[in-house]
Amino acid sequence: MVKIAPSILAADFGNLKNEVMALEKAGADMIHIDVMDGHYVPNLTFGPAIVRLIRSYTNLPLDVHLMVDNPETMLNWFIPAGADILTVHAETCKHLDATLNTIKERGCKVGVSLNPATNENVLAYVLDKLDQILVMSVNPGFGGQSFIAEQLKKIAKIKSLIGSRNIQIEVDGGINPLTAAECVAAGADILVAGTSVFASKDYRKNIDALR
Ligand code: DX5
Ligand code: ZN
Repeated sequence: MVKIAPSILAADFGNLKNEVMALEKAGADMIHIDVMDGHYVPNLTFGPAIVRLIRSYTNLPLDVHLMVDNPETMLNWFIPAGADILTVHAETCKHLDATLNTIKERGCKVGVSLNPATNENVLAYVLDKLDQILVMSVNPGFGGQSFIAEQLKKIAKIKSLIGSRNIQIEVDGGINPLTAAECVAAGADILVAGTSVFASKDYRKNIDALR
């Protein structure tokens, strides 16, 4: 069964506690927290203080997606704040292997995210360290963008690259009931969705529609 990770980028920021609790009640499998620094991507969102707050609102796994220029520094902020899974962009790590080691040594699950133009082969020599691979199906920075269908090929290639390893493929951006089905058919295990989950107040209906 595919897992759904609602992105709180699309939530009502003025009502975050109720939004997070409503997502848990609606059957979300994890909470996707899009951390943006205004440098790596042209948007600025959540710091560790907000993640710490969200940690206190739910027992769901916190799936923290670092879209930041300096993940080697920021991992020291977000792991203590309560991240269960920390995903860094391969494109932002000067020493990806070392960064992944550091996150794992801190007892946190680890993911690597690839932007639409990045080839999956960058992961070839770190696969055995990964818990998750996050395929960006939009260019990172904003919710509400259209799904980049090219990425379905990448999902399928990553599925075969993974082989029998216990690595979850997560897809992020432009996920709706139609693209969700295409992603799962290509090999996705977890779907990140913001706009489609928060499109109406019936979050359970919207999450079930993705499943
Ligand atoms: C984009 C974020 C995505 C985004 C998904 O940079 O990483 O998680 O919030 O939002 P929707 O579902 O609206 O495309
Ligand atoms: Zn994200």
